[in-house]
Amino acid sequence: MLTRIPKTAIEKGMFVEAVECSEALFGKRRFVLKSDADLRAIRQCPADFVVINTAAGSARAAGSPMAAGSRAGADPHAAGSMDRARAAVIMSDSVRALRQGLTGIATGGELDMKLLAPIIAEMADADPATTSLFFEVSRLKSKDETTFQHSLAVSVLMGKLGDALGLDRDTVELLVLSGMLHDVGKLSISNGILQKQGKLTVAERATIQSHPRRGHQILQKHADLPPEALEICLHHHEYLDGSGYPARLSGAEIGPLVRIATVCDVFEALTSARPYKRGWKTADALAWMFDRDQQFDRKLVLRLGACIDG
Ligand SMILES: [Fe+2]
Repeated sequence: MLTRIPKTAIEKGMFVEAVECSEALFGKRRFVLKSDADLRAIRQCPADFVVINTAAGSARAAGSPMAAGSRAGADPHAAGSMDRARAAVIMSDSVRALRQGLTGIATGGELDMKLLAPIIAEMADADPATTSLFFEVSRLKSKDETTFQHSLAVSVLMGKLGDALGLDRDTVELLVLSGMLHDVGKLSISNGILQKQGKLTVAERATIQSHPRRGHQILQKHADLPPEALEICLHHHEYLDGSGYPARLSGAEIGPLVRIATVCDVFEALTSARPYKRGWKTADALAWMFDRDQQFDRKLVLRLGACIDG
């Protein structure tokens, strides 16, 4: 399991996955901490935290797992019953508003920001209990609400990650809005394809992979939307190694806000239930993404793990 510990708690014998400081100092080294020189280097570097892998090395120090052990359903201390009741109300109101807002624009209607504004503020201000509940619901969602609940969960995650990265309030709200809109293109694809169980045909896969372009076309009709929201909608399935779609962008061609969207979108997709799969545990999803730094921005995966934990 990946565990994030203060650098002062590191000991020889631990397997170091990442030191949370500039890559120039430790590069992408993953190593068993054996030497005094490495121990000293980590303790003297600007990082505050180190990510260790307890499956590959010792774990004597008490660290906090990168996973959301604080998720509402798993930890009775994570959310009081009042918090959870309030979060449930916010969730259901938000899904309803999002359904109205997205269905309207997907069928050529106007984008009514009055519908979305209150939930953008709710998502940007969401406390840990609300955020946790969104994950729980997202794991249990019914088929016909998949896109709305996924969009809402991605939206709250993007806001949290933006916040953890120290972005200003306007940018956090922009991320929240972009999360809500990023999959709007799926609303123009039949449920028969979206929810198909079993292998997709080549044509069906191409149809599903057309959803970023479809969404972008829908959002282009709304001149008042910030261009970053359109960029996120179009490129949220691009990977750093150029293996994504629709434009096979790579590396620096993928902007920082799009990277935030990609990490949150994939994490939410892995951890939530689908008609054909159970949701992964948070720790497993983070570890899987962490190991694929050719595709995902590793610093963002680490930050995401840390802000879900916290
Ligand atoms: Fe998508």
